[in-house]
Amino acid sequence: MASSLAVCRLHMKGRGSLLKCLQKADTFFRRNIGTNAVAAQEEKEGFKSLYAVQEERQEQAERSVLISCQSRTNEKKFLKYLSRHGDINKYFFYESYGIYAVVEFSNRESLASLLEEAAIPGVSHESMLPFKSRLLSLRNLGSADSPNQQSVQQCQPQTSIPINELIQRLSREESIDQQITSLTDVYQLTEENSRLRFLVCSLLKDIAAAYFPECTIKPFGSSVNGFGKLGCDLDMFLDLDGISGRNAKMPKSGLWLEYQMKRANSERAVTQSILSVIGECVDQFGPGCVGVQKILNARCPLVRFAHQPSGFQCDLTANNRVAMKSTELLYLYRELDPRVRHLVFTVRCWARAHGITSSIPGAWISNFSLTVMVLFFLQRRSPPIIPTLDHLRDLAGPADKSVIEGNDCTFVSDFNKIQLQSNTETLEKLLREFFEFYATFAFNRMSISIRKGKEQNKPEVAPLHIQNPFETSLNVSKNVNVTQLERFVALCQESSWLLQQSETNTPSGGKEGKASTPWGLATLLMPTQVAGIKGRKKRKREPASERIKSLLESLKNTNQPNKS
Ligand code: CTP
Ligand code: MG
Repeated sequence: MASSLAVCRLHMKGRGSLLKCLQKADTFFRRNIGTNAVAAQEEKEGFKSLYAVQEERQEQAERSVLISCQSRTNEKKFLKYLSRHGDINKYFFYESYGIYAVVEFSNRESLASLLEEAAIPGVSHESMLPFKSRLLSLRNLGSADSPNQQSVQQCQPQTSIPINELIQRLSREESIDQQITSLTDVYQLTEENSRLRFLVCSLLKDIAAAYFPECTIKPFGSSVNGFGKLGCDLDMFLDLDGISGRNAKMPKSGLWLEYQMKRANSERAVTQSILSVIGECVDQFGPGCVGVQKILNARCPLVRFAHQPSGFQCDLTANNRVAMKSTELLYLYRELDPRVRHLVFTVRCWARAHGITSSIPGAWISNFSLTVMVLFFLQRRSPPIIPTLDHLRDLAGPADKSVIEGNDCTFVSDFNKIQLQSNTETLEKLLREFFEFYATFAFNRMSISIRKGKEQNKPEVAPLHIQNPFETSLNVSKNVNVTQLERFVALCQESSWLLQQSETNTPSGGKEGKASTPWGLATLLMPTQVAGIKGRKKRKREPASERIKSLLESLKNTNQPNKS
């Protein structure tokens, strides 16, 4: 949507014809993105700011409840039972250590009525912590149901399909562009998963509110920036801005009362003390919260735990407003052009398939770093697909001004002020050139900066230097070692080479339901690629025809179910 608008704005400026402009935008979508349902959806819905999305989702979450159900719950009976408290707006079932239902009521009174009626569990041999939450269990003391197939709940998937299935699915597509959009469709967060993320934040807020009734807990990072994959972690931010004293306005004259508050040495000490207490509460009282770790000495202190009912790995931080800003920035870039999201998803998935990224902390390149690398690459196209952060700052109005801990986090929030240039490169071309770009990037001398949109001299020694967009003296990829960077570069070389071979980029012609030979993007996601990289030096001397032959051989073998 944003992209078509941007193209529209561009053409309207030049020719002034709305009709032509709309036709151009439509052609743009068809040519570059294919008949993509996601893009069509975006086009229909129009642009919403991250702030507006968060407000709406938070409000929905506060009217919602999470219920653990039996595996063959009769859906009709279940809904009838709950509707006694009021209208249900939306509900869905999913599986995570059992079956759960998310139920959103039309208003809070209905929810209050339901909670009023819920019973305290009886205990005989053990004791219980008397903390009530909106996580409930459905009990049935009546005669056992024998529900017919139609009335048994259908579960919404909350995890993405395995990589082998994805490879098969992509192999059936007819162009690399379609493969890329298909990958995004499969991996992106669903509407239900997004709701569940906000509900978990809201449940956690109920715990934190015991101490801080004015607080909110907001998701940030990939849960909301548009680049989240089903199964990604849930980054949360405990927002106490309303009572931090940061924006407090003092009366100019007369009497006034103020709260007496304990003082601490630094903001960091305040954050640590708040997270320590909340972490303790989550550990002691939070139903379904397990494996709670307080990691308070990290650069950004956090409480990490698993929320079993949702299956989310959660990171709770406080006073992390810069990360909130970078989430907003990524969200804006994603909205500017659909190619941003498709390319980020593809590169993230490709990196994960080859162990370039990992869920375990270490010297790996992070998803956030990869995203910034994709954005930088798109800024370096000719003409650029997205503007630099400095340009977005220059377009900002007075209301957009934001300085956090001395860092200038200002950038424009009004999309209409952003004029995009007319770049119509296909996703296939962009993917190929992304690999080419980083296969030959001067990592030894240069730093990546989306603020400037140009490579900068490295300010410090580090194998990979990616400037933090807002805390500009920091390197986002400080943790990455030489080995990991070399693996990334080698994989880029290999992938760029593969995409140039006609054997790789020609559709295999598989039919729906039938196994087809991996081709195009599917080839790039195959683990055999890694072996290819290890043997790269040796294979360099082989004639190209030999290389292609052995590669095709390996693809055939992987495609045979018994051998894979
Ligand atoms: N962040 C940051 N600087 C870093 C690391 C992270 O500003 N060095 C911010 C980014 O806004 C990022 C968010 O913190 O999106 C969450 O970090 P992380 O969970 O590592 O990345 P995600 O983007 O959420 O990606 P993933 O799906 O891997 O969780
Ligand atoms: Mg994350």
